[in-house]
Amino acid sequence: MNRRYGNPRLTAHRFTPAGPLTGRIRVPGDKSISHRALMFGALAVGRSRISGLLEGEDVLATAAALRAMGAQIERDGDEWVVDGVGVGGLLQPDAALEMGNSGTSTRLLLGLVASHAITAAFTGDASLSKRPMGRVIDPLSLMGASFTPSPGGTLPLMMEGIEPAVPIEYRLPVASAQVKSAVLLAGLNTPGITTVIEPVPTRDHTERMLRGFGAELSVEEADGARIIRIHGPADLHPCDIEVPGDPSSAAFFAVAASIVPGSDLVIANVGLNPTRNGIFKVLEQMGARIDYQDARKVGGEPAADLRVRHAPLAGVTVDPAIAPRMIDEFPVLFVAAALAEGTTVTSGLEELRVKESDRLSAMAQALRAAGVTLEETDDGLIIEGTGGAPLAGGGPVTTHLDHRIAMSMAIAGLASREGVGLDTVDPIATSFPGFVGLLADAAA
Ligand code: S3P
Repeated sequence: MNRRYGNPRLTAHRFTPAGPLTGRIRVPGDKSISHRALMFGALAVGRSRISGLLEGEDVLATAAALRAMGAQIERDGDEWVVDGVGVGGLLQPDAALEMGNSGTSTRLLLGLVASHAITAAFTGDASLSKRPMGRVIDPLSLMGASFTPSPGGTLPLMMEGIEPAVPIEYRLPVASAQVKSAVLLAGLNTPGITTVIEPVPTRDHTERMLRGFGAELSVEEADGARIIRIHGPADLHPCDIEVPGDPSSAAFFAVAASIVPGSDLVIANVGLNPTRNGIFKVLEQMGARIDYQDARKVGGEPAADLRVRHAPLAGVTVDPAIAPRMIDEFPVLFVAAALAEGTTVTSGLEELRVKESDRLSAMAQALRAAGVTLEETDDGLIIEGTGGAPLAGGGPVTTHLDHRIAMSMAIAGLASREGVGLDTVDPIATSFPGFVGLLADAAA
């Protein structure tokens, strides 16, 4: 039962000006990698072990759905143990699959189930029930699955998978790792070669990890596009996976340390996959002081410890081409921009309007309430920075059940005179349990 359905009382919180962020922290495991580790473990034959799994509500929704379809998934000390059913071995669930707030669980599991002879209902919370599913329904229908969505192509929806499904060649109409992954996951149990053409590269965790699990998957680059082919039906063998820290979660602390004077913070074990590191590149362009220490590989992904020190930031025009590499980090980038010297211009961000909330309008509203001068355009925000002077503060701002709006405005509160009130901090648990305590400790 999703808590936000069951209990209408939300936990409000005010984030007040704080001292410098110092010391050494670790952020929880990467959300995208955690979902995939559970899913591929569930489709392997045998036992996989996962360390560093993100124990946020979104990932737990994926675990619950996979259990409902026959996989065994248990916590064992600090690790998670997954006993998989094998590709093609998923079972018919007895009840609707409750996806909570998680678009990644929904879209990737729709792909997984599409090529199994399973009929399943997918439901979600108020935020998820507004998000477009047509983008996965379209290719999965071409593969032979049938869907009865709610009006507008949203949850709740019924899906009827098909076995054997038909392999397709699909060119992504929108830069989305979720859509790419949905098609590739359907391809796992589809005889033949399923091909996804990605004109703009998006996060490639699915490709990396599927190879690690033994899938026959190739990636070809042609004219800037990536052509990804998966051979089905695949045989996945179990793996031991170490999940690196989530760069999307680290971003909140990197911005906080950059804008709160005197900060000198080490964020340990941050994943730095080149398809995910855009936020750090843009912060550096703005003048942020980020040192990458002990660069290494964690779970097949590049990672490092980030030392971030306070630095005066300058407004920039953000190249829209970098958006897919930092699609979840714009809300917190807008906070950095609000404290920078001069104007920051962003564009090409239409996708932000269909995330857990309409993040352009939600952030415009929230930042204005905190005293920021900005303009909202069709596809971006233009923000006038204070040049480092604290924001006025205010609120309570409306988070629209969106964890990243909540965490971004929490960071804005640290760099404000009056603090920033949030209508609720509950959604933060979807991706970053422990955020409020970690922030208080780092800024103590
Ligand atoms: C994700 C892909 C992105 C991102 C989401 C996680 C993934 O969504 O916003 O938080 O794990 O594949 P889109 O594919 O819709 O851009």
